[in-house]
Amino acid sequence: MIPLPKNSEILPDADTVARAAADRLVALCAAAPDRPVAVCLSGGSTPKRLYALLAGPDYRDALPWARLHWFFGDDRHVPWDDAASNVRMAREAFAGAPIPVDNLHGIPTEGTLEADAAAYGTELNAFYGADRLDPGRPLFDLVLLGLGEDGHTASLFPGKPALDEATAWVAPVPEAGLAPFVPRITLTFPVLASARSVLFLVTGEAKRAPLERLAEGETLPAFRVAGPVIWLLDRAAAGA
Ligand code: 6PG
Repeated sequence: MIPLPKNSEILPDADTVARAAADRLVALCAAAPDRPVAVCLSGGSTPKRLYALLAGPDYRDALPWARLHWFFGDDRHVPWDDAASNVRMAREAFAGAPIPVDNLHGIPTEGTLEADAAAYGTELNAFYGADRLDPGRPLFDLVLLGLGEDGHTASLFPGKPALDEATAWVAPVPEAGLAPFVPRITLTFPVLASARSVLFLVTGEAKRAPLERLAEGETLPAFRVAGPVIWLLDRAAAGA
């Protein structure tokens, strides 16, 4: 087994990884019974299993849907009905969940890349009630993240300028570092770290490569996320 990031938990398979994340969300909601709960969704394919689980019979009635707000850590700058859209992916995966229409906060993609990124930053500011992050008052209760085979997370790709954005909450990404090669919009490191819990969901043998690069000391973008990070890995990804 490869040396793993600290705060890693190895679980048997992708289903138990999804259930572990679902259980943590239920606990986070129970710990905040009297206020909105903000979740930052990851895109890609790994989290589909979790979203469908939350909408399904095992978890649906355990969640306070009316006060759960769902944001996105990144998206492809395509229409929301495009096959590459994370908003479309989430809507399909959460099918049947009683999410109030105003509680799903998709990243706007109808304007220019820069204007849409700025607009999402303004939306996050409005939800948070300020435009500066207070270390003692996290923006999100839960941030969900994935690991790209190149070590990216959200749309923070190796070698791209968004990695260095330390002030803006949201950044345009004109050139993606991995398919789909469409412009992206991403939350930045400071905002992703403003959370009560940050969960990386990493499953499948293909993720062993970026984990091995980490073990060899490469500080790839995914490993630069600060905050209360926990890695939920299945045995295939961990090489266990
Ligand atoms: C995206 C995601 C991205 C994803 C990783 C892993 O928009 O693609 O936010 O950061 O989490 O690329 O993707 P998979 O889960 O599909 O392997």
